[in-house]
Amino acid sequence: MVNPTAIIAAIAILSLLSAVHVEAGKKLETFSKQYGNPFNESYYHIFEVEKPATISHDALQLTPDSVASAEILNLTHQSGRVFYKEPFKLWDGDAENVTAVGSFNSSFLINIFRLGNETPGEGMAFVIAPDLDLPEHSSGEFLGLTNSSTDGNPSNKIVAVEIDTFKQEFDIDDNHIGINVHSVRSVVNTSLTPYNMTIAPIGARFHNIWVDYDGVGKVMQVYISVQETETGPTPPKPGSPILSYNLNLRDHVRQHSYFGFSGSTGEDIQLNRVLRWNLTVHYFPENDDQWLKIVLGAGIPVFVLLVIGAFGLGYYLCRWRMQLSNPKLAGALKTLPGSPREFGFRDLNKATGNFDAKNKLGEGGYGVVYRGFLVEENLQIAVKRFSRESIKGQGDFLAELTIINRLRHKNLVKLLGWCHKNGKLLLVYEYMPNGSLDKHLFAPPGADPLPWNLRYNAISGVASALHYLHNEFEQRVVHRDLKASNIMLDSSFNARLGDFGLARALENEKTSYAEAGGVLGTMGYIAPECFHTGKATQQSDVYAFGVVLLEVVCGQHPGFNDLVDWVWFMHRDGRLLEAVDPRLGHQYVAEEAKRLLLLGLACSHPAAAKRPKTEAILKMIMSKTVPVPFVPAFRPVFVWPSAPLPDSDSSSTSTT
Ligand SMILES: *[C@@H]1O[C@H](CO)[C@@H](O)[C@H](O)[C@H]1NC(C)=O
Ligand SMILES: *[C@@H]1O[C@H](CO)[C@@H](O)[C@H](O)[C@H]1NC(C)=O
Ligand SMILES: *[C@@H]1O[C@H](CO)[C@@H](O)[C@H](O)[C@H]1NC(C)=O
Ligand SMILES: *[C@@H]1O[C@H](CO)[C@@H](O)[C@H](O)[C@H]1NC(C)=O
Ligand SMILES: *[C@@H]1O[C@H](CO)[C@@H](O)[C@H](O)[C@H]1NC(C)=O
Ligand SMILES: *[C@@H]1O[C@H](CO)[C@@H](O)[C@H](O)[C@H]1NC(C)=O
Ligand SMILES: *[C@@H]1O[C@H](CO)[C@@H](O)[C@H](O)[C@H]1NC(C)=O
Ligand SMILES: *[C@@H]1O[C@H](CO)[C@@H](O)[C@H](O)[C@H]1NC(C)=O
Repeated sequence: MVNPTAIIAAIAILSLLSAVHVEAGKKLETFSKQYGNPFNESYYHIFEVEKPATISHDALQLTPDSVASAEILNLTHQSGRVFYKEPFKLWDGDAENVTAVGSFNSSFLINIFRLGNETPGEGMAFVIAPDLDLPEHSSGEFLGLTNSSTDGNPSNKIVAVEIDTFKQEFDIDDNHIGINVHSVRSVVNTSLTPYNMTIAPIGARFHNIWVDYDGVGKVMQVYISVQETETGPTPPKPGSPILSYNLNLRDHVRQHSYFGFSGSTGEDIQLNRVLRWNLTVHYFPENDDQWLKIVLGAGIPVFVLLVIGAFGLGYYLCRWRMQLSNPKLAGALKTLPGSPREFGFRDLNKATGNFDAKNKLGEGGYGVVYRGFLVEENLQIAVKRFSRESIKGQGDFLAELTIINRLRHKNLVKLLGWCHKNGKLLLVYEYMPNGSLDKHLFAPPGADPLPWNLRYNAISGVASALHYLHNEFEQRVVHRDLKASNIMLDSSFNARLGDFGLARALENEKTSYAEAGGVLGTMGYIAPECFHTGKATQQSDVYAFGVVLLEVVCGQHPGFNDLVDWVWFMHRDGRLLEAVDPRLGHQYVAEEAKRLLLLGLACSHPAAAKRPKTEAILKMIMSKTVPVPFVPAFRPVFVWPSAPLPDSDSSSTSTT
């Protein structure tokens, strides 16, 4: 027997449902949301983010940047998608009923950013798609929309507005907008050049784009205007559209479709970023008809069972969805802690007192470093401003960011964040209250000399950092510009290696990096072979480390090669300890000083292959019982190409 209360309850639910049904009818419902301002990790719950797309740096990044995705170093030939997770029912009823097609208005702020003045590629699109999946091999000309086997096929059920920065043979130019139906070949297009707009200019530019679709008039219209800055104000919508196309969505998209963005890079790369997104959709609510028919036909007991079943099913669906969302959650969390963040230019400007000269901490070939103070966070910072004149400024900036962002070591200066605004590039670091090592080594007369234990501590810190860069970090890195002025001292006088402006990640098989511009480092610290090869290597870093070692112990500038030659001369004469900084008097540990000087000489061996490796160096510095390399009495002559030398054996002990 059926429980009578269940029947009463079912009748109540049934009448409620029919009331809702009558009320809702086929009237359109409105979905209206503003996303961004700015985008953050919490959007991973709302959007489906198809890798390598990410939500980072306040934006939906449809294709990766070198920072956000450590696992992707090759930024070419990438495609990605970010979609709102829920589909909308966009049409209804029979084909003749003209009012049975939904409408939408969408507007979004984009920033397509090319690398330096390199050619940008390829573009991005606002998309209505039947599913959330990114097609395989949809990079390059396919903009994450289709691929070579599916392009042009009506079964794609895709309608998109492309913002294209790369000219294919079928494109009008490398700066156009088009409306696409099932294909990357637009049905209608327009160049932006006559409107004095460049989507991917040199430097940052922001564009606001409106895509409106009127389901009654069956017309899609696209508007665009330049937005001066990232944070607004939003420019007014232009009076007339840049593109207008008659299109019945019912003929081209699936009844339930998703809204979002896709983008791609090809042989050339760019960042495809969406910074804000407004979406308003007039869609059809789900139809209850089918359910009512089943319920009325099968009778109330079945309906009761259905209701009970639905609760159970709902419970399981809920759990299933929660499980599904977990990987996303993990992804969101991964990007959270400690990663460098973007700073506002205005904040940095304020923090440094408009980059006041009196806040200048130092200056190098790549720009000027200022001291700053973020009042709200009560935080002291060092801001490195890349000089605009530096032709390769943006490349250097990205190189530095890519590398430092992923390095974690207590003897490296920590990167707090970055700022890229109006072509100005800034990096924000932890402030090092004790400045650079050279300031202490070459303190003005009268000032206390840097005590021996601090010198020793600084050297072990630098050795540890160098070992990390060369071996422990997942990708081998050469610093390329190791010198006393690049070694900072924190509040406890621990050494922190800084200035990775010249650092480059070494690819696995390669052991050196050739710099086309021929920038090798700083005179006095450059290994002799570099003048021939033009390449920085781990061995040339060790050479520079050797020079730093001698500099720290002797308290003397390296000169061109003078310091190394002089210390070697003292070694031959058996007067090695006379090379120790005279300002220390007797306030140093003779045995330690001797070991460091010999190690310094071994590191500055003219033959790269004879120099010790960082692992051995670190052991010799940390444990004072590990023997230091044997150093011959005469400095070997540099031979090119380097020939094996008969007199050295890095495993034997020193015998002075
Ligand atoms: C992310 O943005 C949303 C919407 O603007 C906001 O409510 C939320 O607090 C933000 N979350 C974080 C972690 O910043
Ligand atoms: C990046 O990938 C493309 C093909 O996918 C390849 O042609 C190119 O050499 C790669 N570049 C690097 C730097 O690995
Ligand atoms: C057309 O469709 C709309 C919405 O689905 C509905 O409200 C209307 O009654 C339909 N008109 C005709 C003539 O079928
Ligand atoms: C889109 O904007 C137009 C013009 O402002 C408005 O008439 C229309 O109702 C809007 N449609 C939606 C779906 O918001
Ligand atoms: C989104 O809508 C809000 C409110 O109308 C507006 O202030 C903002 O500028 C819009 N954003 C974009 C990207 O169109
Ligand atoms: C195109 O994408 C579809 C769906 O992802 C896939 O099945 C097909 O193999 C892809 N074609 C090519 C050439 O990659
Ligand atoms: C682009 O538009 C021009 C004229 O507006 C037209 O001749 C051309 O066929 C279009 N190309 C594509 C790929 O849509
Ligand atoms: C584009 O700029 C040129 C030169 O500055 C000007 O003559 C022209 O009127 C501008 N065109 C538009 C559409 O603004």
